[in-house]
Amino acid sequence: MRYAVSEEDRQWAEQVWGKLEVKLKAECGRIGSSIPYIPVNGVYSDMGEKSLVWWTNGFWSGMLWQMYHATQEKLYKETAEQVEIRLDQGLADYMGLDHDVGFLWLHTAVANYRLTGNPRSRIRGLHAAGILAGRYQPAGGYIRAWNEGQEGIAIIDCLMNLPLLYWAAAERKDAGLKQIAVSHAQMALRHILRPDGSCNHLVVFDPETGEYLNNPGGQGYESGSSWTRGQSWAIYGMALSYRYTGDREYLDAAKRVAHYFIANAALNDYEVVIDFRAPEQPVYYDTTAAVCAACGLLELAEAVGDYEKPLYVKAAVRLLRKIGEKFCEWDPEQDSIVSHGSGRYHRESDREVPIIYGDYFFLEGILRLLDKHLMIW
Ligand code: GLY
Repeated sequence: MRYAVSEEDRQWAEQVWGKLEVKLKAECGRIGSSIPYIPVNGVYSDMGEKSLVWWTNGFWSGMLWQMYHATQEKLYKETAEQVEIRLDQGLADYMGLDHDVGFLWLHTAVANYRLTGNPRSRIRGLHAAGILAGRYQPAGGYIRAWNEGQEGIAIIDCLMNLPLLYWAAAERKDAGLKQIAVSHAQMALRHILRPDGSCNHLVVFDPETGEYLNNPGGQGYESGSSWTRGQSWAIYGMALSYRYTGDREYLDAAKRVAHYFIANAALNDYEVVIDFRAPEQPVYYDTTAAVCAACGLLELAEAVGDYEKPLYVKAAVRLLRKIGEKFCEWDPEQDSIVSHGSGRYHRESDREVPIIYGDYFFLEGILRLLDKHLMIW
């Protein structure tokens, strides 16, 4: 086994996998190619009807491809193909697209291409990569996150979009695409990650000169605090940049953030809050940060030697087990699985609710433990 998990933990993961199969088969039959985000009273609506380019719109497809890869059941593949075709309109409309084209098309077209070799999917992925590359700001050396009026902002989350560029660079033998990804990762090391392993959400540059301006709080509590999902993106994102470049600076950065994350999560019995440096009360959980960090820790475990592996694997298992034991809804009649996910600290409507990416990373984490996952990133 890839991670050498204990027999007891493997059995636990098998048990959870059994429940995931039942739940996701029912959910797939019910919601098909509509695009889920946050359910209300256990019922998803179709986010695709409101916006085809919302950054989370790929995760359901990512879950479907994970399920197809693990089970070979055609229903999952056919449904994922329908989601991919729906997103074509978002690609064509173009205007609302931002740096999250990575989250959107890695989980749809690129996943399809990796599994089936579909040439149309390859083109979609390359097209999305071109859009991502076009957001590069040479003054400052970063990929801008958002659109008009926000050209100077880069965010930690973008590390998870970089694999689209690494993939496209390899597909097209285009070193320029890889250099853009590397430049952004280097910028994140210099301006978003802190020496103690914590990190900010945002960094702001003067877009004309590239001069560093400041680090506002973004989705975390405030500037100087530690938005937990941002730490998760940093662990996973830096480990991925190491996977695609072999540059040890990224591996060391991923370890640094991982050690900071594990220390903070352990202090709270692996129940992860939205911001590690928010006031102790009120307590707001963010299970999405926990499951994303768990996947990042497992990615990191693959990159290190045998002496180092157990720390990351055991911490990932503890995070996933805490979610499985305390934060899961297994009724197949209810949409969504992982409860208490949070989008941001200061917005009540997306605080402590089930969110589709919580389910995605929980599924990826369980499949990783069983060595059945598809490498989507
Ligand atoms: N934009 C990604 C996130 O909210 O984590």
